[in-house]
Amino acid sequence: MYSFNQLLPFLSIFLILHLSGQKGFQVEGSQLNDAATKMFVFGDSYADTGNIRKSLSSSWKDPYGITFPGKPTGRFSDGRVLTDFIARYLKVKSPVPYRLRKLMPQHMKYGLNFAVGGTGVFDTSTGGPNMTTQIDLLQLAIKGKVYSASDLNNSVALVSVAGNDYSHYIATNGTAEGLLSFVPVVVNQTINNLIRIKGLGVKKIVMAGLQPLGCLPTVTATSSFQQCNTTTNDLVLLHNNLLTQAVTTLNQQTNNDHSSFIVLNLYDSFMSVLNHPSTHNIQNELKPCCAGVSSEYSCGSVDQNNGKKYVVCDNPKSAFFWDMVHPTEAGWHAVYSKLRITNALQQIHY
Ligand SMILES: *[C@@H]1O[C@H](CO)[C@@H](O)[C@H](O)[C@H]1NC(C)=O
Ligand SMILES: *[C@@H]1O[C@H](CO)[C@@H](O)[C@H](O)[C@H]1NC(C)=O
Ligand SMILES: *[C@@H]1O[C@H](CO)[C@@H](O)[C@H](O)[C@H]1NC(C)=O
Ligand SMILES: *[C@@H]1O[C@H](CO)[C@@H](O)[C@H](O)[C@H]1NC(C)=O
Ligand SMILES: *[C@@H]1O[C@H](CO)[C@@H](O)[C@H](O)[C@H]1NC(C)=O
Repeated sequence: MYSFNQLLPFLSIFLILHLSGQKGFQVEGSQLNDAATKMFVFGDSYADTGNIRKSLSSSWKDPYGITFPGKPTGRFSDGRVLTDFIARYLKVKSPVPYRLRKLMPQHMKYGLNFAVGGTGVFDTSTGGPNMTTQIDLLQLAIKGKVYSASDLNNSVALVSVAGNDYSHYIATNGTAEGLLSFVPVVVNQTINNLIRIKGLGVKKIVMAGLQPLGCLPTVTATSSFQQCNTTTNDLVLLHNNLLTQAVTTLNQQTNNDHSSFIVLNLYDSFMSVLNHPSTHNIQNELKPCCAGVSSEYSCGSVDQNNGKKYVVCDNPKSAFFWDMVHPTEAGWHAVYSKLRITNALQQIHY
């Protein structure tokens, strides 16, 4: 059911957001010092804003990025992705992709984005850095005194493990029974990662739960994009339940005034938008805006003569999904508008 290639770009997101009481960093050139808010991002394609290599990914091809910033930047969407919206919430700049940090060294004061499309908490066949390796990069930056203890002390981390571990498992080992027993293994490793981030000195860690994988176009294609697969979504609910329980336990153990670890309920926010699309001016809730002209092609495909082998919908703003796996900017915006009103996201501002 899952095609690995289609599911690859799932992401786990790991955002570390460094907060202070200061606001207003969207303004270019505004005054920043060590106490300024920083955001560090770790994860996969829901969070990647340019780390994935051009040679590896359609996200560097047209028509990705047509809405924002107007050309492909490696983001797996027509425009902004979850990272950008969380940055907006925190009133910080979307942090520079780690791979491009040397091109924009002055931007490192806003934090770093380590997320790479296709990765998971464990290795996937993309060869991209797993979450352990992404956290290693932050650790190195701390060792290299790029970020100080006080930089990290008021910081927030947001982590989302969004499915690549499962798609890789299905592609390499996949029985339904095996998959069920793999869920606690993925959650366990995710929790190990959260604890490690906390150990590096990050104060607040926000973990995105799994989105409803059974509603992704790659899954709903069999029903001509008419209905979500409840079997797949049940697996997601299991993952999210285990994750939430484990995070609750972590909070009890760390025993701060405020919770150190926060779970963002992407499942409910996606479902809420998908069940009431017109509230968000979305007409196509399950059908992707951009798709290959036939099954051997996908969004961004071209033939040897550079001829387009994909079609794009008239108005990406009225579609929830951009490609077979990823929301449009409008989709993310709608999800964000749901997340904003949840208690969890508000807890980022401790
Ligand atoms: C992550 O990647 C590193 C480097 O390839 C590897 O040594 C390590 O075993 C991987 N960790 C996990 C949990 O898969
Ligand atoms: C971190 O911040 C807390 C207040 O939130 C303060 O008590 C503590 O001393 C700070 N630690 C460091 C290493 O800056
Ligand atoms: C695949 O399944 C076998 C047998 O259940 C297990 O020993 C192995 O660890 C699994 N591999 C992965 C990558 O989960
Ligand atoms: C959970 O992670 C720890 C630390 O890596 C490991 O020792 C343990 O075997 C894991 N448990 C499961 C059920 O995967
Ligand atoms: C839902 O997904 C499961 C697991 O991949 C598959 O066995 C089942 O046929 C799917 N159900 C529908 C209605 O497509």
